[in-house]
This record gives sequence, C-alpha cells and structure tokens, in this order.
Amino acid sequence: MNKDIPLLFRQLTHGVYVIGVSCKDNDNAFTAAWIMQVSFRPLLLALSIHPDHSSYRMLIQSKAFSVNVLPDGRIDLADRFGRPAAKEDKFAGVAWHRGKTGAPLLDEALACFECEFSHECSAGDHQLVFGRVVTGAVLDPDAIPMNYRDTGDLDGSSKLYPGGFS
Ligand SMILES: Cc1cc2nc3c(=O)[nH]c(=O)nc-3n(C[C@H](O)[C@H](O)[C@H](O)COP(=O)(O)O)c2cc1C
Repeated sequence: MNKDIPLLFRQLTHGVYVIGVSCKDNDNAFTAAWIMQVSFRPLLLALSIHPDHSSYRMLIQSKAFSVNVLPDGRIDLADRFGRPAAKEDKFAGVAWHRGKTGAPLLDEALACFECEFSHECSAGDHQLVFGRVVTGAVLDPDAIPMNYRDTGDLDGSSKLYPGGFS
C-alpha cells in the first residue's frame, strides 16, 4: 500500500478560490481549495476553514462571505491570499469591489458567488461553514479554472498530514 498520504490526497480534484470577508470596516480574503456545492434547494456551498484564520472570525461576525473562482495561471493571487493577513495588505495592487453582501469581489476572478452564513459544524481540525448563495456571476465564460493540484505545496499542507492511517 502506498503510504505517501499527501500524494494520495492530491488525487482529489479541487478548484482554487479566494474567500472574501468584510467586518466592521475591515476587509480580508484568503485562498481556499476545500469548497463544494452541497445543495440545489436551497443553493448551498460548504467551505472548510481553519478556525485560527483571521477570516474565520470575520466571517462568523459578519455572517457573509464571497467565493472568487481563480483562473488558471493566477498562482500569484493564490499565493498572495494564502498568506496571513497580519503580515501584509493582501489587497495592495489588486482590483476589487464590494458585493451585495459587503464582501470583497476580485475583478480578476472568472466567476464569483456571494453567500450568507447558514450554519456550521466542526470537522476535525477545521470548521465546515455552509453558506446560502444569494447572488453570483460568471465574469469570463472562456477562462479555465485553476486546479489545486497545480499549486504544488504552496499551502505547505504536505507537512500537515499524519505519517500513516490510524
Ligand atoms: C492553494 C491553497 C489552498 C488553501 N486552502 C485552504 C482551505 O481550503 N481552507 C483553509 O482554511 N485554508 C486554506 N488555505 C490556507 C489559507 O489561505 C491561509 O492559511 C491564509 O493565510 C489564511 O488567511 P487569514 O488568516 O488572513 O484568514 C489554503 C492556502 C493555499 C495557498
């Protein structure tokens, strides 16, 4: 049996997204791969987010978030928003505007969704946040979405996996 657990989990296909939040005059956004549609009626997305992220606290307080779909080739955006907010102004030089919910929308995303917080539950070391989609738009129908697999170890996740199956 192949014991390379990071390599095994890289076989799961994910897109790459920038999740925007806005709370009390503060705007933030972070890169995420663990997002999926989970319902048609109502339209629900689920996001797995680490509770230590500054975006998590802002999301829970503001009860809204945006999902910006990154196009292939914009690894620079995945990298920039994958860093902690405290270290730099992540939005410096990035074109964005505020959406209906108040959450930041990136002009260079190929599509965007806006969600109102629905509910959450704990999922191991992450929180699974469910958002009801209240609006959204396709900005570039010809663009190809970025594949998480192509980001390599940009998120540093290879060292987060356990050494074996329990
Ligand atoms: C490609 C990539 C995918 C990521 N996916 C997730 C994810 O699905 N969930 C998550 O909680 N963090 C994810 N991260 C990590 C966060 O983007 C990162 O910890 C960020 O610094 C959090 O920002 P904040 O503290 O300003 O909220 C990912 C990072 C990268 C680069």
